[in-house]
Amino acid sequence: MRVTVFGASGLLGQALVQALKDETVTALTSKDGDLRDTVRVQQAIRTSRPDWIILAAAYTDVDGCETNRGLAFAVNCEGAINVANAAREIGSRLLFVSTDYIFDGAKTSPYEAGDARNPINVYGESKARAEERLLEIMPDVCIVRTSWLFGIGGKSFPSAILALAARHSEIPVVSDQRGCPTFTSDLAPVLVQLCRKSALGIVHATNSGSCTRYHMAREIVRIARLATVVKPVRTAEFPRPARRPAYSVLSPASLHALGIQMPEWQDALRRYLAAAPTQP
Ligand SMILES: NC(=O)c1ccc[n+]([C@@H]2O[C@H](COP(=O)([O-])OP(=O)(O)OC[C@H]3O[C@@H](n4cnc5c(N)ncnc54)[C@H](OP(=O)(O)O)[C@@H]3O)[C@@H](O)[C@H]2O)c1
Repeated sequence: MRVTVFGASGLLGQALVQALKDETVTALTSKDGDLRDTVRVQQAIRTSRPDWIILAAAYTDVDGCETNRGLAFAVNCEGAINVANAAREIGSRLLFVSTDYIFDGAKTSPYEAGDARNPINVYGESKARAEERLLEIMPDVCIVRTSWLFGIGGKSFPSAILALAARHSEIPVVSDQRGCPTFTSDLAPVLVQLCRKSALGIVHATNSGSCTRYHMAREIVRIARLATVVKPVRTAEFPRPARRPAYSVLSPASLHALGIQMPEWQDALRRYLAAAPTQP
């Protein structure tokens, strides 16, 4: 396959480039062209002429999106539209990486791929709007929603917990947000498989199982054999600019229907911690 990856320097993008090592890959970062630059995006796609484009580039600072609404929509929505239009022009397929944050978190059972979008923060709004527009522009787009990414080569929740645990004997972590942690090294090969299977429509892809941030932090500390105590706290005690859904567990039914299973998040965490560089 010829694959063009937008966001190749990101947490997921780095794992994608690794997972695509036996394919013909064009790996693009923001330095190769900004998603907001229609002409550059078009040139990059015309030049690489991929079978598939994997759009893993985004403005992912969830709190930053609240104060930079224009930037969030320009990159996450208009940028994605630029890619879709250029893909359609040359007949490339497009896999768009989306997020659990397009849901409001009001459900108490896993979100299915067909459930209604109702984002509660600007980041989620920008991704939800992008999903809607891409489905209009390219009916055969594949939208893969994932959640709570962690991986080698960048900051993520486990690396933050390890850094805090190295400095404090007790760390407070919110116990009223539940989701599905996902290891980029598990997700990237699944995205490649979805391309090979010519998947289309909306697919939910996360490591299996779910937990709260508090439970995840406890598991990180336990696996790393640290003495730090993890203390459960309520989200309301730690106000952030962006609201987060209290429950954003994604059902794996859409992935299972394509014959793909993903490992449990605890197993993924063990492999991540074994491979991650020692924390500061
Ligand atoms: N992180 C999560 O927990 C999470 C959860 C659910 C879904 N997702 C989605 O998964 C995808 C990958 O996320 P990630 O955590 O790997 O992201 P990340 O580490 O923040 O990387 C973002 C990537 O996007 C590129 N980028 C940012 N702004 C750009 C622009 N204006 N033009 C072109 N490229 C730009 C960055 O390039 P430079 O390095 O050159 O700036 C980088 O390669 C995103 O679509 C995100 O919405 C993430």
